[in-house]
Amino acid sequence: MSVNHPFNETRTTSVLVTGGAGYIGSHTLVELLSNGVRPIVIDNFENSSPESLRRVASLCGSEPFTLYEGDIRDSGLLDRIFSEQKIESVIHFAGLKAVGESVREPLRYYDNNVGGTVKLLEAMQAHDVQTIVFSSSATVYGDPHTTPIKEDFPRSAVNPYGRTKLMIEEILTDLHATDPKWKIALLRYFNPVGAHPSGVIGEDPNGIPNNLLPFISKVAVGQLEELSIFGDDYPTPDGTGVRDYIHVVDLARGHVHALRAFQKETVPNFLTVNLGTGRGYSVLEMVHAFERVSGKTIPYEFAARRAGDVATCFADPALANRLLGWSAQLGIEEMCRDAWNWQSKNPEGFKR
Ligand code: NAD
Ligand code: WQD
Repeated sequence: MSVNHPFNETRTTSVLVTGGAGYIGSHTLVELLSNGVRPIVIDNFENSSPESLRRVASLCGSEPFTLYEGDIRDSGLLDRIFSEQKIESVIHFAGLKAVGESVREPLRYYDNNVGGTVKLLEAMQAHDVQTIVFSSSATVYGDPHTTPIKEDFPRSAVNPYGRTKLMIEEILTDLHATDPKWKIALLRYFNPVGAHPSGVIGEDPNGIPNNLLPFISKVAVGQLEELSIFGDDYPTPDGTGVRDYIHVVDLARGHVHALRAFQKETVPNFLTVNLGTGRGYSVLEMVHAFERVSGKTIPYEFAARRAGDVATCFADPALANRLLGWSAQLGIEEMCRDAWNWQSKNPEGFKR
């Protein structure tokens, strides 16, 4: 595969991608490889499968890239990776992300997400690797006082998962204050959905999906009976929750833009940006869009509001556009089309 090297013409750029076998990580690997970046992956396959990596390699026509199977809390493994590989930066996806599960098992989330991040940062520091792109979340905004949401809005968390994201943002802020040579990007994802247009990789949640679009996809493919819409009495145009859904490929491309901006030093060493489309869609709008592109009817019933849900949440993405030269290009038709394409081609996901 002939690739250019927009990052550095003289040597292959190696980026350590923690959690690279996961939903967003695997899609980001595709974008990195097609931009001439050599990814090194560490993943413990807690919520993914090696199959996703095999498919990324086949999709990109690349040699299988270097995988270290293991846990980011394993300092010995991290030391080996940084010693064996010439790593210039880290994209840090590894983490547990299920809100409900975090309420049931807070210590597991704090140990994995916060403890794991501290171990990672200690290894980076020991090996003079000081560039990190972190997977944060719009969940750090809690219930916003208004929308669209800007990066300087107040932060709050209403569950242990959201608190892990807040804590990690604070850890990274402190680290940069101590040593401004650190290059740190906090990318606050809104609602990632969809799949690579090939249908070869996609979202493969464990068990019954918590999130809307994978749930709709399972209904469409006949694995779930009907969608429960959590609340039809929100102060929104049709009474159902409004969110900023962003195509996972757009999201992945935002990471390449962030790395490139650090490489070219066109941005401050510490930046926080929203990765969203700037447009909110309701649950019913997503259901109808999915029905249009799939030709499937999605049976649904209205149920009580889900604890912790907010009425409306969508981004002001202007800062990401200005700093990173990035904006989302794909709309909900493509999100639903690509989600359906993946699901219909892979009804059992990666068959873990
Ligand atoms: P995912 O579960 O698909 O991917 C996470 C990956 O990290 C998995 O492959 C998992 O096996 C791995 N992992 C978890 N803990 C690990 C550990 N201790 N050591 C090594 N590997 C570990 O999740 P995703 O949707 O790809 O999300 C990636 C990141 O983005 C997460 O940090 C998540 O909190 C964040 N995020 C996700 C969303 C979303 O809606 N998907 C939204 C905002 C933020
Ligand atoms: C979207 C809308 C629901 C399922 C979550 C996490 C957040 C982040 C992104 C990690 C809401 C409604 C959903 C269903 C429904 N993940 N819904 N029936 O809650 O905005 O964000 O994923 O960082 O932390 O909280 O996404 O897809 O769960 O819900 O009616 O079966 O769909 O009420 O309005 P959410 P979601």
